[in-house]
Amino acid sequence: MRIIHFAVLCAAAAWLAAGELPPPVTSGGKPLMEALKARQSGREFSPRKLPEQTLSNLLWAAWGVNRPEKGGRTAPSAMNRQEVDLYAVTAEGAFLYDAKKHALQAVAAGDLRALAGTQGFVKDAPLNLVLVADTAKSGDLTYAAISAGAISQNVYLYCASEGLSTVVRASVDRPALEKALRLRPEQKILVAQTVGFLK
Ligand SMILES: Cc1cc2nc3c(=O)[nH]c(=O)nc-3n(C[C@H](O)[C@H](O)[C@H](O)COP(=O)(O)O)c2cc1C
Repeated sequence: MRIIHFAVLCAAAAWLAAGELPPPVTSGGKPLMEALKARQSGREFSPRKLPEQTLSNLLWAAWGVNRPEKGGRTAPSAMNRQEVDLYAVTAEGAFLYDAKKHALQAVAAGDLRALAGTQGFVKDAPLNLVLVADTAKSGDLTYAAISAGAISQNVYLYCASEGLSTVVRASVDRPALEKALRLRPEQKILVAQTVGFLK
């Protein structure tokens, strides 16, 4: 019985540890104009897991804090309300990106990737980001969608710089994914975005 308890605790600890991120590397990469030249949508993904450092850099590029003294972020938001919540869905679970701590907060255990989109590649790609509007922070979904567009383009440019494949997707079963991510009624899914190595 004790051995089973120990195994359960170890599994829980491993799952929680998956939420910790190394500090982002905020130098290097392709020059901006080269990244813009390479930006494109890709729909073929290798199942290979993303290295933790890549995940850290990607999340920071997407929607990280780039001006800690003011809490400023890598993408704009109307009146700096920062109403977009960024979730990461991996084979290990679903996580909310806490930009201030640059950490992933576990929200659900298990592989929920099949719920992250309706296209075939979604369940096998290592990472699906989900961009969610928190209407408790701003009631205007247009503003949230514009901010999400900027976050999505940050992901596109990071992927173009690193040779990763990505596609932003509206094709999501919103009620099913909102339930799986345990979203509050004020939180509305805007888009999802798949990221991974090229097949
Ligand atoms: C709001 C939005 C929703 C999109 N939804 C999907 C989608 O559900 N599935 C998909 O494969 N691509 C989707 N795309 C990607 C577009 O199909 C793609 O950007 C377009 O074909 C242009 O290709 P490019 O990104 O390579 O320039 C979406 C793009 C945007 C901006």
